[in-house]
Amino acid sequence: MNHHLHHTLKAVSAQCFGKNQSLPSLCYTDTDLLTLEIDRVFRRGWLCLGRVDEIPEVGDYFTYQLLNEPLLVVRSDPDSVSVYANVCRHRAMPVAQGAGNAKRFVCPYHAWTYDLNGALKSAPLMKKKADLKHCGLPVIRSEQWGGFIFATFSNNVAPLQESLQGLEEVTANYQMASMHHIANFSEVWECNWKSLAENFMDGYHLSVVHPQSLRPLTPTNLCDSLSQGDAYTSYIANYAKAAPAREHFAPTLTEVETRQSRLFCVYPAMVASLSPDTLVYLSLQPVGVSQVQVKWGICVWEDNLSEEHKQQRIEKWQQINHEDHEVLQGLQKGLRSSFYQGGALAPESLEGCVSHFHDYLIRMLD
Ligand code: FES
Ligand SMILES: [Fe+2]
Repeated sequence: MNHHLHHTLKAVSAQCFGKNQSLPSLCYTDTDLLTLEIDRVFRRGWLCLGRVDEIPEVGDYFTYQLLNEPLLVVRSDPDSVSVYANVCRHRAMPVAQGAGNAKRFVCPYHAWTYDLNGALKSAPLMKKKADLKHCGLPVIRSEQWGGFIFATFSNNVAPLQESLQGLEEVTANYQMASMHHIANFSEVWECNWKSLAENFMDGYHLSVVHPQSLRPLTPTNLCDSLSQGDAYTSYIANYAKAAPAREHFAPTLTEVETRQSRLFCVYPAMVASLSPDTLVYLSLQPVGVSQVQVKWGICVWEDNLSEEHKQQRIEKWQQINHEDHEVLQGLQKGLRSSFYQGGALAPESLEGCVSHFHDYLIRMLD
């Protein structure tokens, strides 16, 4: 780390760690800091790739670009999902493109062929067959939690499920793993990745930024803190009295839970809104200091939701995301100002998660 950045981080830590303060603007604009975040936060954390039920049948797969790593996510047998480096062992061509179903993966360059377990099965015209024995696709460490597929490039980070025990307790009754994936989208938002994570975990903005889409349902003044740990933070968005009752949800939900959404962040870069009937998640990765790649998806509780109702839920969240994106684009402009130095955050029930997220980042970057 260069001397200047080291000095800056010390100052940020002194100003913000445990102090319920927003971060200074350079945290959202400095390219050296972004390089450090990729190295220490992204490459050392658990990152969400998508949902298990995007690939329900054996051979179903999707490819995913995570930082500089092309990945291949495959239902390798009925009970397991495997994540491989999507890089041919011959001369590095990605062996799979897009998504689909395959019995084997044939490299489009010279036709080396891999099975669903990533083992090399054939390599045309190669003479030294024995050399090919250990030429499987590299396996990436992965885990499932709540029906999500996570991967990490680190061998040292603690197992995910273990790290999320506290979050598991406060989300278990909603039965996320039983919800059905109906759609996902890939977008680039024009803001720093941290601003998007913070925005999603901030109950303080709900009534102001979402006057039509959220204020009548989950107004700011009803937000409350929930649970936090080393690997996550979360808050509750209580429903307004006039908000219509949800009709379809897990039988395990308590009466109180049927009138709450629980919003959480699995550090560093997955945020989600879990309501009785709908689960929306966003998985983030930085493209640059002012751009973030977003994979976001929607899952629903109902088994056979009509196309019309699916579309309604998707459109509702497109609207919410649009409202947030507009604000975040403005924010990124403000963060480039040389006059902004960071300010106080709202109380724990409203912006506590933002403060927890900052403390996590400062720990990781230290
Ligand atoms: S790069 Fe894949 S077979 Fe040559
Ligand atoms: Fe929002």
